[in-house]
Amino acid sequence: MYICVCHAVSDRDLRKAVDNGASSFYDVQCRLPVGSCCGRCESTAREFVEECVEERRGAQAA
Ligand code: FES
Repeated sequence: MYICVCHAVSDRDLRKAVDNGASSFYDVQCRLPVGSCCGRCESTAREFVEECVEERRGAQAA
């Protein structure tokens, strides 16, 4: 599912960025153009990235 329609960035793309080491929305934006056009996706993308980061931390702690 696309989270950022302007740049065709999907939830999979965001999760992959976190899986590859991004630990914040800023880190993800260094790798993907999410949120850099109209900005409508930013709050949803931030929440999703935070969830992915928390999941990764939980998986690493287990
Ligand atoms: S929908 Fe992401 S910048 Fe427009």
